[in-house]
Amino acid sequence: MALLLWLGLSLLASVQSSGVKNCHRRCRCEVESFGLFDSFSLTRVDCRRLGPDTSMPIPIPLDTAHLDLSSNAMGPLSDAMLAGPGYTTLVSLDLSSNLITEVTPNALSKLRYLETLDLSHNKLQSLSPGCFAGLPLVDVDLSHNGFQEFDMDVFATKVNGEPVSVDLSHNKLASVSTTLHGRVLHIQSLNLSSNRLSSVPRLAGLSLRYLNVDGNPIARIKDGAFAQLKDLVYLSISGLHELQEIEPNSFKGLQSLQVLDLSNNPELKTLSPAVFSGLDSLQELNLSGSGVASLPSNMLTHLPSIKSITLGQSVHCWRTQKQGQFHRQLGQVQHDEVLNCDVEGIVL
Ligand SMILES: *[C@@H]1O[C@H](CO)[C@@H](O)[C@H](O)[C@H]1NC(C)=O
Ligand SMILES: *[C@@H]1O[C@H](CO)[C@@H](O)[C@H](O)[C@H]1NC(C)=O
Repeated sequence: MALLLWLGLSLLASVQSSGVKNCHRRCRCEVESFGLFDSFSLTRVDCRRLGPDTSMPIPIPLDTAHLDLSSNAMGPLSDAMLAGPGYTTLVSLDLSSNLITEVTPNALSKLRYLETLDLSHNKLQSLSPGCFAGLPLVDVDLSHNGFQEFDMDVFATKVNGEPVSVDLSHNKLASVSTTLHGRVLHIQSLNLSSNRLSSVPRLAGLSLRYLNVDGNPIARIKDGAFAQLKDLVYLSISGLHELQEIEPNSFKGLQSLQVLDLSNNPELKTLSPAVFSGLDSLQELNLSGSGVASLPSNMLTHLPSIKSITLGQSVHCWRTQKQGQFHRQLGQVQHDEVLNCDVEGIVL
C-alpha cells in the first residue's frame, strides 16, 4: 500500500526552479519533472520584459521546451536571434507583443521540434515563403498584425502531416490565397475574424474543420462560396454589419457541417430555403441578433439533421416528430417533423 502511494506520488510532476544551469539572470527558469522516478523533465523559461539593452540570442538552458520572449520590443527577427544551445529543443515559443516587422527565411530554421508559435501583437505585413520550412507546427498565432494579404502556401513546407491551426484574426486582410496546384494543405482551423475581406476567400485545398470569418465587410455570400470545404464542421459568419444576402446554394458542398453561426448580422433579413441545401449534417443554426424574423416553412426538408435553431433575441426552436401516421398508399408509418419554438407568433 505504502509502495503504491509512493509510486503514485512520484508520477505527479514536481517543479524546481532553483539551480537551473545557464539561466539568464533576468529570466525565470523552471524544471518540471514527471514520470516514474522523475525520469522526464522539461524546462520552462520566462524571459518577458527584459528591457531594451538585452542582446539576442538570450542564453537558455540546454533542454528548454517552452520559451517566452514576449514584450521585449524585438524588431526584425534575424537568422542569429533564435540560435544556440537550448533552442533546438523548443516545443513552444512565445514572441507576442514585440515590434517584429520581419521574419528572415532562416530565423526559425533551428527550431526543429517547434509545435506552438505565438507571433501575435507584432508588426508583420508579410512572411518569407520558406520561414516555416521543416518545422512540425500545429498551432500558429499571427493575430493582431498588419497583414493585408496572406498566402497559405507558407505552411506547405512544414514537415509532419499533423494539421495546423492558424489564427489570422485582427489583421487588415483583404485577400487570402492558396496556390496549391492540386496538393492538400492540412490546415484544420483558420480564424479570419476582424479583417477587411469583402468576399469569402477561395480556400479549396485546405482540409478545414473550423472556419471563422466574423466581423468582415462581406455584403453578399455567393453561390458555392464554400464549395470544396467538405470536412468543415464549424462555420462562423457572425457580426457582419454589411451582410445583406446569402445566395441560394451558398453552403453547397458543406456535407460535414454541424454548426453554422449566422448571429448578429442585422442587415440579413431573409433566407430562401435553397440557402440551406447541401447542409445534410447541420445540427445547430444560430440566427440570433440577425434581421431574419421568420423562416421558410419547408426549410426542414433541407436540414435533415437539424436539432436546434436560435432566432431573434431569445427564440429557440427544436425539432420534434408529430405522431406517426400510417400511410395507406406507401404502406409505412410517416413521420411528420415540425419545428417547435418557445415563443408564439414565429412563422415556420
Ligand atoms: C477567432 O478569433 C476571435 C477574435 O480574436 C476570437 O474571439 C475567437 O475565439 C477565435 N476562435 C478560435 C477558435 O480561436
Ligand atoms: C447564438 O449566438 C449568440 C450571439 O453570438 C450567442 O450569445 C448565443 O449563445 C448563441 N446561441 C447558441 C445556441 O449557440
